[in-house]
Amino acid sequence: MNKVLVTGGCGYIGSHTIVDLINNGFEVISIDNYINSSRASLKGIEKITGKKIKNYKIDLCNYNRVRKVFLENKDIVGIIHFAALKAVGESSEQPLRYFKNNFNSTLNMLEATKEFGIKNFIFSSSCTVYGNAKELPVTEETPFQRVESPYGLTKQAGEEMIEFFSKANPKINSILLRYFNPAGAHESALLGEAPNVALNLVPIITEVAIGKRKSITVFGDDYDTRDGSNIRDYIHVMDLANAHTKALEYLIKNNNKTNCEVYNLGIGEGASVLEVIQAFEKVSGKKLNYKIGPRRKGDVIAIYSNYKKAKRRLKWKPTRNIEDIMRTAWVWEQKRSK
Ligand code: UD1
Repeated sequence: MNKVLVTGGCGYIGSHTIVDLINNGFEVISIDNYINSSRASLKGIEKITGKKIKNYKIDLCNYNRVRKVFLENKDIVGIIHFAALKAVGESSEQPLRYFKNNFNSTLNMLEATKEFGIKNFIFSSSCTVYGNAKELPVTEETPFQRVESPYGLTKQAGEEMIEFFSKANPKINSILLRYFNPAGAHESALLGEAPNVALNLVPIITEVAIGKRKSITVFGDDYDTRDGSNIRDYIHVMDLANAHTKALEYLIKNNNKTNCEVYNLGIGEGASVLEVIQAFEKVSGKKLNYKIGPRRKGDVIAIYSNYKKAKRRLKWKPTRNIEDIMRTAWVWEQKRSK
């Protein structure tokens, strides 16, 4: 009884999490329709772990197809629900697409959780739920602010849906994981972030360094921060992956005692955009072509986590820093560009 269903298992965080789950003795099946991922991740997972993963290429918004996966797999102990659209800017241009996809897929997963008596449910949330937080570092109790994007709304409302659902179904226990800024790649460089179009800072940096882009623009150096650029809490994807395994083990161990809990996952320290660029230059030995540009709409000035709750209850702690992130992201970029 250790089979886990991972939705979005071929995506960036999903694929790294599968590796960590397998390394900790779980059996994994995945649902992923490859709209923002590829089969290549399954090969990477197999090379790293020696295990072949079964992926169901279905749309989670189609409940009949979701049911079939559960009918075929009667022994699922928990669900980790990653699958979602996640581009902040795009969500503002296509809000309905984001609402339809992210809400319907989450609703269907909850429906299946109930129909098939699955006990444990883990949801990918984001520090975006805090908006422009009034206090730093943010704890799980820091109040939500109005979100800046439809994407953010799907995370805030997704969390609340799961909370209400868990209360109404006390046999189902859930954990909401609020990620800060995931980055970096598996040490082997067999897995990493492979966006069609890079929109996040770290993949943009490595694309500039490899020559796929001419330069990177720092979105503002006139913020009220130590060097004027935005501050974020960058967390290595393998540390983040391990938090999912710990969360699942915690739910299984505390059988029916937790209902719905929420955890911040970051390293507890902020790095500014300019510091991230410097960390890259240090580990790669390359000078990065960057320029200072205007602020990006919707960016929060600074946010970083207090992750003490995850440390205390899940017995999890991050073990990698910004240099580890930049080093693994760089090795991955060089390998994937070959
Ligand atoms: C945001 C969300 C995060 C979400 C992620 C998904 C917040 C606080 N965070 O992360 O929850 O999961 O989007 O994409 O809402 N930057 C540049 N130049 C660039 C690209 C980025 O200067 O070309 C800067 C940004 O202004 C920002 C930092 O780098 O300060 C990180 O940006 P990015 O990687 O896009 O992530 P967030 O916007 O922080």
